[in-house]
Amino acid sequence: MEISIKSGNPEKQRCGCVVVALFEAKRLSTAAKALDQASDGYLGKLLRRGDIEGKSGESLMLHHLPGVNAERVLLIGCGKEKAFSEATFRNITVTAAKQLEQSGATDAVSYLPELEIEGRDIGWKISQSIISAENALYRFDQLKSDTVARKRPLRKLHLATIDHQSAPTCNKAMAQGEAIAAGMSLTRDLSNLPGNICTPTYLANQANKLGRKYPKMKCKSLSEAQMAKFGMGALLSVSKGSREPAKLVVMDYQGGKKGSKPIVLIGKGLTFDAGGISIKPSAAMDEMKYDMCGGASIFGTMQAIAQMKLPINVIGVVPSSENLPDGAANKPGDIVTSMSGQTIEILNTDAEGRLILCDALTYSERFNPKAVIDVATLTGACVIALGQHASGLLGNHEPLIDELLDAGKQVGDRAWQMPLWDEYQEQIKSPFADMANIGGREAGTITAACFLSRFTKKFHWAHLDIAGAAWKSGAEKGATGRPVTLLTQYLIDRAG
Ligand code: BES
Ligand code: MN
Ligand code: ZN
Repeated sequence: MEISIKSGNPEKQRCGCVVVALFEAKRLSTAAKALDQASDGYLGKLLRRGDIEGKSGESLMLHHLPGVNAERVLLIGCGKEKAFSEATFRNITVTAAKQLEQSGATDAVSYLPELEIEGRDIGWKISQSIISAENALYRFDQLKSDTVARKRPLRKLHLATIDHQSAPTCNKAMAQGEAIAAGMSLTRDLSNLPGNICTPTYLANQANKLGRKYPKMKCKSLSEAQMAKFGMGALLSVSKGSREPAKLVVMDYQGGKKGSKPIVLIGKGLTFDAGGISIKPSAAMDEMKYDMCGGASIFGTMQAIAQMKLPINVIGVVPSSENLPDGAANKPGDIVTSMSGQTIEILNTDAEGRLILCDALTYSERFNPKAVIDVATLTGACVIALGQHASGLLGNHEPLIDELLDAGKQVGDRAWQMPLWDEYQEQIKSPFADMANIGGREAGTITAACFLSRFTKKFHWAHLDIAGAAWKSGAEKGATGRPVTLLTQYLIDRAG
């Protein structure tokens, strides 16, 4: 979809549809009032008749209003004006996008960015509008032979602004919003692809594609033989039970000053997690194709920052493997040696994420990073603790955690901190190795992070457990594209 910024009176816009807001108790927004005046009180009459009240979630499509140039007018209910919030703004943007898509209008001018939200400027409203609208219109139908074609897809969305002076802010926000939306779309596509297509090799090829597209991004992937030379015994042990070779994808974006320390983003790229010998129950096992959503979010974020040419150095690392049962697979009780030299007793082969991540963390030392952030669908326990609304956040450096929490709040892709106290480390001791790969039933998300923390002594580190946030189950099954917005906002805040 093409996006642009536009100004001018709503009644004058020549387009398929003009979108305006209505608050509860039938209160028209400024742009809606202008339409009402131009149409000789048409909207007022309609409200008195009771066609729409203005409740959040409501919408009404009107055709050929007298005195209005646009073919259609879409009224969007916004709820109580006093309760109008960032979340409501995102919701109404989604409602508007979905209604527009069904309407047959090929272009539209939205006046929703005129609505006031405390503490948020026009730039925020522009970028959030783009991200919400593009995400609402996203579909994954590339594997259907009979793609349900959109009859007349919405091709152009113009976002109306009243204030001409804000043009530079708006244009920047538009570029950022578009880059983030495209990054999320890439993340969702990679995540939704099934395990037989999206293999570690597929992800490695995907990185090469990004490298070819963006001159500032150099991409490569380590083969199993190269990983063996580095001594990545933990990562390689997970891959032993699979016929697909593991890859360690490295995407090096040098948009900042030469020599300035990079931020390293690591994403779990487990392209299918059957659990290994500690096999998972079969119900909903298909969803374990989503065990590479962390890795996919690194691809999306790298693409977003490259597209917006962010002046910062960032390295994306995606350890990628399958976890399957096989005669050669890891067995409970096996002891492996990680790249760090620390030994690990594998008591449950289904706790494989930490095994591939720990070697990626140690590998990251070579970049002399300013900070390392890993993103992983790491524990079912995180879904139980936080559900789908927040990513779990733990780490060894409070300022870094605060920066990530703040970035998530800004863009509505929130994280919630959990404690990483020393006391929890007790749970992962092993009688035979330096540590065990599981810590029992209690505090599963924390003990997984405790495990990772033993490989992060040399840098500032934070860990995002996205097991609940990364995809939806049920009727709306599909990847969410999180936490691309959080990560990209964090990097935008650090750049320059
Ligand atoms: N990929 C899973 C975690 C997961 C499970 C994410 C369900 C989202 C939904 C991970 O590899 C795993 O299997 N973790 C185990 C760890 C346990 C064996 C300590 C888990 O959470 O059950
Ligand atoms: Mn697992
Ligand atoms: Zn897993």
